Amino acid sequence: MDKLLITGGYRLNGEIAISGAKNAALPILCAGLLTAGDVILHNVPALQDVSTMLKLLRQLGLSVTQHEGVVTLNGAAISSLEAPYDLVKTMRASILVLGPLLARFGEAKVSLPGGCAIGSRPVDQHIKGLQAMGAEITIEAGYIHAKAKRLKGTRVVTDMITVTGTENLLMAATLAEGVTILENAAREPEVTDLAHLLVAMGAKIEGIGTDRLVIEGVERLHGATHAVIADRIETATFLCAVAAAGGDITLKNTRSDILDVAIDKLHEVGVVITSGPDWIRAQMAARPKAVNFRTTEYPGFPTDMQAQFMAVNCVAQGVSHVTETIFENRFMHVQEMNRLGAQITIDGHSAMITGVEQLVGAPVMATDLRASASLVIAGLAAQGETLIERIYHLDRGYDRMEVKLSAVGAHIERIK
Ligand code: EPU
Repeated sequence: MDKLLITGGYRLNGEIAISGAKNAALPILCAGLLTAGDVILHNVPALQDVSTMLKLLRQLGLSVTQHEGVVTLNGAAISSLEAPYDLVKTMRASILVLGPLLARFGEAKVSLPGGCAIGSRPVDQHIKGLQAMGAEITIEAGYIHAKAKRLKGTRVVTDMITVTGTENLLMAATLAEGVTILENAAREPEVTDLAHLLVAMGAKIEGIGTDRLVIEGVERLHGATHAVIADRIETATFLCAVAAAGGDITLKNTRSDILDVAIDKLHEVGVVITSGPDWIRAQMAARPKAVNFRTTEYPGFPTDMQAQFMAVNCVAQGVSHVTETIFENRFMHVQEMNRLGAQITIDGHSAMITGVEQLVGAPVMATDLRASASLVIAGLAAQGETLIERIYHLDRGYDRMEVKLSAVGAHIERIK
């Protein structure tokens, strides 16, 4: 298994190109199931999760051609309506084939995702919404088996805000009979990006970007061309890296308007940020200042940036308090950071971080995607060598992170 070896203490200087967003690309690839026409996608990131999704889609009979960042999908010859356990267990986002398959073919069988490192993450709201739209759903032998001649539009109010739940129901509603109203919908930019693709495919959606999506179902959708939105979490991860390690970096092919809260926090940390329509520059010359935050749904502070900002707080001046409200078990990086000399204590869903002058490198273990990124940031700021094991978690969601960081002066290498 690959490892990352980081020698910390080097400032980051230069330019990094940001990739397309993982969490937009995954639902968008599934939208290819909704039509027999060609869906041509630009800016698709080269990630393990994208490969896993394409493997699943090919198994369902979707034709996939790839050329650099461009993926062309054609769903004219779908031959299977089943997402098997062996793929779903490796990637929960596989649940996103449920809505499109059911809406277009009247049936779908998708393995229940099972447990997850960051929390229990049930999919009851996906099921509840589809049932409200008339689907008959049974759970048999670990599989969700859904059937509906044609889904019917209705008003769905989810118990909580769910990103993939909104995406599944949105895709299903595009082909339902009549009008579907999704209340309490997720407003994440990735949901909006999916909605824009669906509109380009002929879907009728109002309220895009709000928590009330109104979808008038159509008989069929057609092909379209779309570029996946920039990855705001990758962007923020590199911004945190410069906050912790110091330096001057410019991130290209990204946007600051989908990062409002994170950028406000980075200002508080002491990073000087300037931006244009498709770039963000971050300059950091001093020791960071500690910041408090509480994760919440968009447009609030994202749970997917919690661990990376915590790494900054570890080396910051002052004491900070961080509360995680989305997932019940998303502090697994804490024990590893403490191995590097961080001073973090956890009390339920909150962590208290007392910043230290200097972390000291040590062997650590990555436990999930964003935890891995936070350990890279901590390693860049630490004195000496940090060896990160189990970086397959990192490869799921970051496109060649060590290559991008090396290009701006980090001492980081992949050990096979
Ligand atoms: N929830 C339920 N029932 C449901 C759905 C969600 O109880 O049917 C709960 C979850 O357990 C959680 C909360 O609702 O406590 C929010 O979960 P959500 O459904 O929004 O999360 P998700 O759609 O499974 C996506 C991202 C995650 C990101 C979360 C929150 C994708 C593929 N994944 O997950 O990304 O953390 O939204 O923003 O979009 C990551 O990229 O590292 C990652 C974990």
